[in-house]
Amino acid sequence: MSADGFHAGPPPGARADWTIDQQWAAYTPAEHEVWLTLYERQAALLPGRACEPFLKGLEALDLHRSGIPEFARINRELERLTGWTVVAVPGLVPDEVFFEHLANRRFPAGRFIRRPDQLDYLQEPDVFHDVFGHVPMLADPVFADYMQAYGEGGLRAQGLGHLAHLARLYWYTVEFGLLQTARGLRIYGAGIVSSRAESVFALDDPSPNRLGFDLERVMRTPYRIDDFQQVYFVIPSLRALLDATLQDFGPLYARLSAADDLPIAAIAPTDRVFTRGTQAYARAAAAQ
Ligand code: PHE
Ligand code: FE
Repeated sequence: MSADGFHAGPPPGARADWTIDQQWAAYTPAEHEVWLTLYERQAALLPGRACEPFLKGLEALDLHRSGIPEFARINRELERLTGWTVVAVPGLVPDEVFFEHLANRRFPAGRFIRRPDQLDYLQEPDVFHDVFGHVPMLADPVFADYMQAYGEGGLRAQGLGHLAHLARLYWYTVEFGLLQTARGLRIYGAGIVSSRAESVFALDDPSPNRLGFDLERVMRTPYRIDDFQQVYFVIPSLRALLDATLQDFGPLYARLSAADDLPIAAIAPTDRVFTRGTQAYARAAAAQ
């Protein structure tokens, strides 16, 4: 993930591209224990919920072992599979730094891990979210290409002044995307697979809408960063997602300049509806 508002350059100790050494040997036994707890919770929950490419990537990269994985070890296998590597960063990095890494098939991952009292919610992406959540999908060749294209597209969107629109695509695919399969909906979004509660909510709760993915529609839809999503978008396949994003976004951005945002929970007549949500959860949360 990336964030705005860094003008001072990388923090002390970080390289010009904001990367740092993971310093794997410096993790404490208690920190490894947090990884193991989170890993075991999610590994038990995700078969039948996460999509096959995610589960396959998790298996291939062997992210369990003795706690927080060493990036150098993951990278040997990941680079062999798709040419991606994971690099450590201190936390959120500026947008252009983030895009530049993605465009070069490097995934910037937080080095720190959440505290034991933060197992269920954390504002900033830590090594569990970044590595457990994102890295397994990078072992899939099609998704690997999508992420690289996204990085290139990010640099372009920034130049065109449409980053806010493109960020919604990231949010509703890379972070919170669902995949349609012959056996039902499956999760591929990192924000879902790294959260115990949302791994259940995203698939089973009657509250959120689940709608067919449409590029322009997604870019007109705001999102929530503070709670479960009110809408999830379903792609028919990873290939379809990649194909839909290969087109030049220039004309699309031009149309979006003249288009209003859609209300977050609205369903349009043109939407393909998988679930018409009750929005009961969002209403109850708002009433508190
Ligand atoms: N095709 C997009 C563009 O022209 C780039 C892109 C690809 C963006 C994949 C996101 C995902 O800007
Ligand atoms: Fe993320």
